[in-house]
Amino acid sequence: MINMKKFTYQKIKGTRDYYLEEGLKLKFVEEKLEKLATNYFFKPIKFPVFEYKNLFQKTVGKETDIVNKEMYHFLDRKGRGIVLRPEGTASTMRLILENKLLDTNKNDLRFYYLENMFRYERPQKGRQREFIQFGVEFINADSIYADYEILDLAISILKQFKINNYCLELNSIGSLETRKNYIKDLKKYLTKVKDQLSIDSKVRFEKNILRILDTKNQNDILLLKDAPKIIDYLDQKEKDNLNNIENHLKAKKINYKINPFLVRGLDYYNDLVFEFSEADKNSLGTQKTIIGGGRYDYLINDLDQTKNAKAIGFALGIERLILSARDYIDRNYQKNIYYSVIPVSNQYIKEAYQISEFLRNKDKNIYFNFNEQKFNKKLLQAVKSNFDFVIIVGKEIKNNKIILKDIRAKSEKEISIDKL
Ligand code: HAM
Repeated sequence: MINMKKFTYQKIKGTRDYYLEEGLKLKFVEEKLEKLATNYFFKPIKFPVFEYKNLFQKTVGKETDIVNKEMYHFLDRKGRGIVLRPEGTASTMRLILENKLLDTNKNDLRFYYLENMFRYERPQKGRQREFIQFGVEFINADSIYADYEILDLAISILKQFKINNYCLELNSIGSLETRKNYIKDLKKYLTKVKDQLSIDSKVRFEKNILRILDTKNQNDILLLKDAPKIIDYLDQKEKDNLNNIENHLKAKKINYKINPFLVRGLDYYNDLVFEFSEADKNSLGTQKTIIGGGRYDYLINDLDQTKNAKAIGFALGIERLILSARDYIDRNYQKNIYYSVIPVSNQYIKEAYQISEFLRNKDKNIYFNFNEQKFNKKLLQAVKSNFDFVIIVGKEIKNNKIILKDIRAKSEKEISIDKL
């Protein structure tokens, strides 16, 4: 007896496959996002799946969870530290500097990407170890209008996907100078409760105290309740900036909330930081943030001290967007029209083949059903597989005609091939 072994391979925990309808939905979502990015003059970029580890240490920050706990890293055969990219902003900045784009572009540079990212987090609904991010980065973004446009784009994405019930949180974390003053007072305040902080926060107290504001630990959150707020440390220009942004949102009738403890989980931000989350808890579970972003005016200079370029951007998790906009996507994703071309019998198979080619050249989406099945079975299958139309090729072909069956309207007519 032959011993047949069953298939036992599995995908890695926290990753997912897309196929059939889910594959089409993903494509629909990605195309819609690309279209919106293009409306705002963002151009596509692509960068490698792996980069040198030090790029993220330098940009995202050594004491962040992303770099400290979540990166997939390994040594290559020559002993160099490599990571699977956990986010796209650092790679975009590397791409810009390495390709000298700032030398040749004095005006703004606007890029978007749709890329898989990797973070070793505990998988749960809306949180994966491999996920897809749609990100936009606006470089040479000196004007407050860049802030407006970035927020406007994020808002129109949510609007287009009919996610109306969202919550926008904003904060300004000011300049480096402002933060220095703030950190002094935060340190004073936290010194008094240091012993009660979680182990993680104790480490952060020594190494990067602002990160404590990011804590998910309930006891830490309680201890932070009366901590000084960075917003009270902003200088006049920083305050004006935040005010302008608030006024912009008010004029657009967008609800928002200032969250004085919002610092985001990455170290490169200054001034404006923001997050859009789902307001009702149903579809995303505890992972409610769909879009996160902010300004990062010092990042280019951190990587290359001969360069300066202010910048702002955001990224959204595609899986979270899909969970959140599930109903809208289900109703709208299938915008392609599909035809099944079916010969009545083998006698007409050549003509059916030629008609299929003819229609594909006219940009129609054709499934030529040449399988060895009875005609009725093929028809039934076309209905079951959600085709929009069936083209029946039979005796009418001698007059250059076919029968066009509209499956949804449950109607059919004889028409000449040129009219298709
Ligand atoms: P982030 O907040 O780390 O920011 O990620 C942005 C978005 O990616 C999140 O709001 C979420 O939707 C999605 N995301 C993050 N981690 C996961 C995960 N494990 N599973 C599923 N989705 C996830 C950044 O990455 C910055 N680079 C954003 C940015 C661009 N800031 C300026 N420009």
